Amino acid sequence: MKKGEEYYPFLRACRRQPTEYTPIWLMRQAGRYMKEYRALRKKYSFLEMCKNPELAAQVTLQPIEKFKLDAAIIFSDILIPLEPMGVEFEFARGEGPVFHHPLRQIEDIEKLRMIEPEEELPFLMKAIQIVRKDLEGKIPLIGFSGAPFTLASYIIEGGHSKNYILTKSLMYQDRPAWDALMEKISEMLIRYLNAQVRSGVQAVQLFDSWVGCLSPGDYEEYILPYSQKVIKSVSEKVPLIHFATSSTALLDLMRQAGGDVIGVDWRINISEAWARLAYDVAIQGNLDPVVLCGPVDLIEKEVKRILDSVAGRPGHIFNLGHGILPNTPPDHVAALVETVHEYSSKSSSL
Ligand code: CP3
Repeated sequence: MKKGEEYYPFLRACRRQPTEYTPIWLMRQAGRYMKEYRALRKKYSFLEMCKNPELAAQVTLQPIEKFKLDAAIIFSDILIPLEPMGVEFEFARGEGPVFHHPLRQIEDIEKLRMIEPEEELPFLMKAIQIVRKDLEGKIPLIGFSGAPFTLASYIIEGGHSKNYILTKSLMYQDRPAWDALMEKISEMLIRYLNAQVRSGVQAVQLFDSWVGCLSPGDYEEYILPYSQKVIKSVSEKVPLIHFATSSTALLDLMRQAGGDVIGVDWRINISEAWARLAYDVAIQGNLDPVVLCGPVDLIEKEVKRILDSVAGRPGHIFNLGHGILPNTPPDHVAALVETVHEYSSKSSSL
């Protein structure tokens, strides 16, 4: 059966419409904390799993089969579209992504290729189609990408970074190279996200995970126009969640850049973040992922604190403040989902 947006609590919350209970999904909900995932990972590398549509679909559905989550997120990685641009990287064991030739010169940036997502990343589009079919309309599917700054930081630093000194140095000292890189990444993201929408995702999340290292002035000058352009290209088609960590000082600028939903981490009280956003967008968050490793009564206490803080205002999507940690006990995830549903249905806005 084909169901409209209004059927799904998650999509309704994205539009700030009342729901019977607060919808919940978790960033990185498919991953190493699940034994089903680890069992597959024994046979395949992470990138092999991303590039095989059947495996990617299977992993996407693993947490859905186990927990009563209100949305699925397609299994992939923010770095996947960089490969067809000509950026080479690998996931070194225990180290995260490593780029063999970080780009720091305009000559190298100009060589980056523009992608044709359906032709060059067919496995992702296929995985989206398989998941939509397998879900049979039960819950919506979220697509995603990195945001221009977060992707630029990996390309320039060559991997994860503590202080983003190389990224910021390029931004401050070589404006033409910075603009050329951000232009290319933005154009790629517009194609990439729109291809995911065409393939069937019903919402998208833009991960600007590391943009919180910037001052508001720098965000406004160097980032906002690019993120805004990317967001505008999809947000009229499906709801968009604009997520960053350590974003307390950037919230108003992120709202200006766009998004139907702003995702926040635990470093700010969720009601304070929402007030700063003037309540004219939905909000997602913001349990500290470490709480999930603690005892169940701690989880319940923290969930209630967050739900009490938003006080049943329509437009809250429950999530962690960042990705779930690999050592999270799965039964704590089950307890979290249950507590959010039960407690919020008592104080529901319907
Ligand atoms: O949310 C989901 O369930 C969808 C899958 C997803 C992954 N990565 C799978 C993954 C999503 C949405 C991402 C996004 C992502 N990837 C981000 C933004 C979100 C964030 O955490 O800030 C970033 C920065 C990346 C880049 C990346 N991918 C890093 C730094 C790492 C290594 C760190 C780590 O956790 O090992 C990855 C690998 C990765 N991406 C794994 C998974 C399940 C672990 C791979 C493994 O099995 O070894």
